[in-house]
Amino acid sequence: MTPIRVDLLSDTLTRPTSPMRAAMAAAEVGDDVFGEDPTVKALEEAVAGLLGHEAGLFTPTGSMANQLGLRLHVKPGEELICDSLAHVVRAELGAAAVFSGISSRTWTADHGLLDPRQPLDLMITGAGPYQVGTSLVVVENTHNFGGGTVQPIGAIREVRAAALERGVAMHLDGARLWNAHVASGVPLSDYGREFDTVSVCLSKGLGAPVGSVLVGSAEAMTEARIWRKRYGGGMRQVGILAAAGLYAVEHHIERLADDHARGRRGAEAFASAAPGSIDPATVETNILVMDVAVAGWDAAALVAAALVQGVRLYAVGPGAIRLVWHLDVDDAGTDLAIDVVSRLLADGPAA
Ligand SMILES: Cc1ncc(COP(=O)(O)O)c(C=O)c1O
Repeated sequence: MTPIRVDLLSDTLTRPTSPMRAAMAAAEVGDDVFGEDPTVKALEEAVAGLLGHEAGLFTPTGSMANQLGLRLHVKPGEELICDSLAHVVRAELGAAAVFSGISSRTWTADHGLLDPRQPLDLMITGAGPYQVGTSLVVVENTHNFGGGTVQPIGAIREVRAAALERGVAMHLDGARLWNAHVASGVPLSDYGREFDTVSVCLSKGLGAPVGSVLVGSAEAMTEARIWRKRYGGGMRQVGILAAAGLYAVEHHIERLADDHARGRRGAEAFASAAPGSIDPATVETNILVMDVAVAGWDAAALVAAALVQGVRLYAVGPGAIRLVWHLDVDDAGTDLAIDVVSRLLADGPAA
């Protein structure tokens, strides 16, 4: 098999850098289930502060942080609403229904982009015992399967104002909120304060090997801490992992702009190799989702053809592929990916 020369499968692939490993090795630790790990506490406080919330909770995964957030706001038999490509309904394997008895309904959004009318039209409140009541709106920013889409702060505020009036809570799946912040210039706390809870991932573009943080009110995080333990997520001397997260937050946010620039460069090249496959203006961050069917390709076949040349991509649908830039992809890797994928798109599958 050809060795992988550039890996654009996901930004979860990053390996800890040497200084990150040094920070991990030097971390002060304690038993976090007893609340005695100083590095975990420092991480939780730092992230809560950045997002404008009272308290934080370190979790092993983004999925757990999301699921803890969801259950804080929605009782069994009530519903959350979100867009149909949201990670919480598409890629968390039914966890909201399985663990919390939550019913979900979705609206369809172009590139995952939030249009306030859609959640507001879908929301049901005050219908008594006749219809499932909406307790929560979930927004994903940036939007993964939508192609790294940044949600406009104005649209978020519009939904928030209406949701508050109707007594509906809001949760932000901010796995890549760092990317939204760098791309838009909107402060993290401006995004954060529009939501009751926010989850952020340390293990995607920021490059930590593991970990997410859920933030919210102190009271909400006390409850989430109980549920985290119930879910088997009470961890012991995890300051070692929290140190990687702290290092990432302190050193790897601003550099996300490099990933965004490389993604945009890819989009421009692919748009000229296969007109109609991608609109470069929609590539705002590190994720590029492209229609390869317009160039006659089946997504799995194109992924296989690129892999033979050492470039790993991901098929997100029968005719769509995804490329994700991250800490371990540099300019040379980007050049190689552009060269290989552009040629495949221009030549078509028969070549
Ligand atoms: C938008 C979004 N939310 C949540 C998650 C879940 O993160 P984890 O894989 O750590 O559970 C992901 C993972 O890719 C994601 O893309």
